[in-house]
Amino acid sequence: MIKSNTYEKICHQIAHSIKKLVNDSEFSVLGLATGSTPIGIYEQLRKMDVDFKKTLTYNLDEYVGLDESHPQSYKYFMNEHLFKHRKFHSNHFPDEKLFPYYDSMIDNSDGIDIQILGIGTNGHIAFNEPGTPRDSKTHIVDLTENTIKDNSRFFDSIDEVPTQARTMGIDTIMRSKEIYLIARGKHKKEILEEAIYGNITPEIPASFLQEHRNLKVYYSD
Ligand code: PGA
Repeated sequence: MIKSNTYEKICHQIAHSIKKLVNDSEFSVLGLATGSTPIGIYEQLRKMDVDFKKTLTYNLDEYVGLDESHPQSYKYFMNEHLFKHRKFHSNHFPDEKLFPYYDSMIDNSDGIDIQILGIGTNGHIAFNEPGTPRDSKTHIVDLTENTIKDNSRFFDSIDEVPTQARTMGIDTIMRSKEIYLIARGKHKKEILEEAIYGNITPEIPASFLQEHRNLKVYYSD
């Protein structure tokens, strides 16, 4: 079921769930997302009095070929929005060094407790583009023209957008204990409804989430 609310309320609610998890657990594991959707959650977390020193994070994805000093790299993004403000036990990305071990690292951390997810206008989750199989693990992908175009708004020109990324696979994401899927903006409404209420198909990778036992779906205009 899709719950509609204001963006602020959605972010507030999710940030509180994260706070509760972290406060109630000896050790916790977060799966984090980048892009415009989760910014408000990180803003809320920065304001909260939470100690993340026993919290590990695994980000969903990272571009291939962008150094972490590049303002559009996801390491840079996470640093700006959260990590330079709050000290965690450790923060991981599926970069060149870690991506072959990413799924086993997550398993060895006893899995992701809360995974935050956005959705692309083509139905992708993380960088799992249409056609990605259900059993995919962390892998390298060629970004579709649609995604390159969508993400070009963050770059000076479309030619600067990387054409490849490393991403958690669908299976990696589905193994998370709890998933918060958030779509923000009218341009995401149709694809969100198709993903949640339509057929489950690799053509809409987010549709696989219907099979998750602990999925919460939010929409804001
Ligand atoms: P956005 O991206 O949050 O920047 O809209 C979401 C996505 O493409 O997964």
